[in-house]
Amino acid sequence: MTLAITRKISPRFNECELTHISREPINLNLARQQHANYVLALQALSCEVIELPAEKDLPDSVFVEDTAFILPEIAIITRPGADSRKPEIESVAQALAPHRKLLRVHAPATVDGGDVLILGKNIFIGNSTRSNSAAVNQIQELLKPYGYVVAHVELRDCLHLKSALTKVDDQTLLINPNWADVSHFKQFDWIEIDAAEPYAANCLPINGQILYPTDFPKTAQKLEAHGYKLKQVDLSELAKAEGAVTCCSLIV
Ligand code: GLY
Repeated sequence: MTLAITRKISPRFNECELTHISREPINLNLARQQHANYVLALQALSCEVIELPAEKDLPDSVFVEDTAFILPEIAIITRPGADSRKPEIESVAQALAPHRKLLRVHAPATVDGGDVLILGKNIFIGNSTRSNSAAVNQIQELLKPYGYVVAHVELRDCLHLKSALTKVDDQTLLINPNWADVSHFKQFDWIEIDAAEPYAANCLPINGQILYPTDFPKTAQKLEAHGYKLKQVDLSELAKAEGAVTCCSLIV
């Protein structure tokens, strides 16, 4: 069974980091309800969910994706780029330890899991405000024995690489070509987001379906026209914290 690690929303969610959008009040109760529905959607997609307790003083800690990335052989615990987020990693490391050997990156490396896109033996890391070239070099060294090749991808106008593109299946990417140097991805098939929905490139394929936000109906239609089955969730309150579907879980 697929395992998904999630974390309940912090009571200080309204103090989240924001980089590319303006602050709007987040309705905490609605955000919690949307997050609970996200967890139900993961369960409906045959995931066993380990839900970590809320971290009272870590506003962004619901976005567990940024704390680690998981490969078949090992998991790497990240060193998040925002100082407010660095303490988020230890409880996730504890939750992952029974499932994978854990490797770590060290200062001066910083990397958010949202910048890490794994496509077979190729790992792409966004050159964002959160993830630096020291991290790319360390990750390349850590993963060389396992046969992975790591590339650094230039970004524009977005928080993470997975704001600009995500995997739909092993050969296909959902992509906003305006936000990343897409020349790295020529060997894949692309589905471009609808131009009116710039935030629509973040999707989460799980067990034959695509977990996808309700906010982007035009891009959703495109995905369905390509034959993908969508499981849609409303994450509009989490989007006010620059969160999306991949950010809220670690899929083991
Ligand atoms: N608010 C999500 C992040 O900035 O990491």
